[in-house]
Amino acid sequence: MNRIKNRIYVRIFIGATLLLLVACDNDHKMGSHNLDAMPVPAAPERQQDPAQLAMGKQVFQNNCASCHGGQAEGAANWRKKDMDGFYPAPPLNGSGHAWHHSTEVLGNVISNGSVQGQGKMPAWKGKLSGQEISAVIAWFQSTWPQPVYDAWFEMQQRGR
Ligand code: HEC
Repeated sequence: MNRIKNRIYVRIFIGATLLLLVACDNDHKMGSHNLDAMPVPAAPERQQDPAQLAMGKQVFQNNCASCHGGQAEGAANWRKKDMDGFYPAPPLNGSGHAWHHSTEVLGNVISNGSVQGQGKMPAWKGKLSGQEISAVIAWFQSTWPQPVYDAWFEMQQRGR
């Protein structure tokens, strides 16, 4: 009697294992349709044009450092609204969320500033040239650690 019981258990065990294998295989097949599994080209060399970086650094020190900090580290307590109910200047050195934005979006934020009445970021359109805005973005991106830059690059590729 016991032997028969054992046999039944063995069969159930084998059956369950087979089912599991089939399920895993299906998962695997579905996984290959997942967008996350799409190959992304490797990040290119970082922006290293010394003349552009020098210009960007100058633009940053003259116009941005007073709020965003000399090394783009952001205002202290930048995650907390100030007494007027607005957020202080966030870091641009890769420790904030600036890297979640494409170059285009960063350029728009810098040109147009905060949405009116919703923040204290000034608009730089008319005060800085397009070349200066590109240079300042290149400069603060040059402060990003490599993994942040890679994540930004990958996101920018996926957004296309
Ligand atoms: C008067 C202070 C001040 C100055 C000067 C200033 N900013 Fe800002 N900046 C802010 C604030 C505050 C925010 C957050 C905006 C919001 O909450 O709407 C911000 C946001 C930003 C963002 C968006 C960051 C993100 O994480 O989404 C970028 C990019 C930026 N600033 C770049 C610059 C650059 C480049 C300059 C110089 C050309 C500059 N800022 C000058 C206060 C300033």
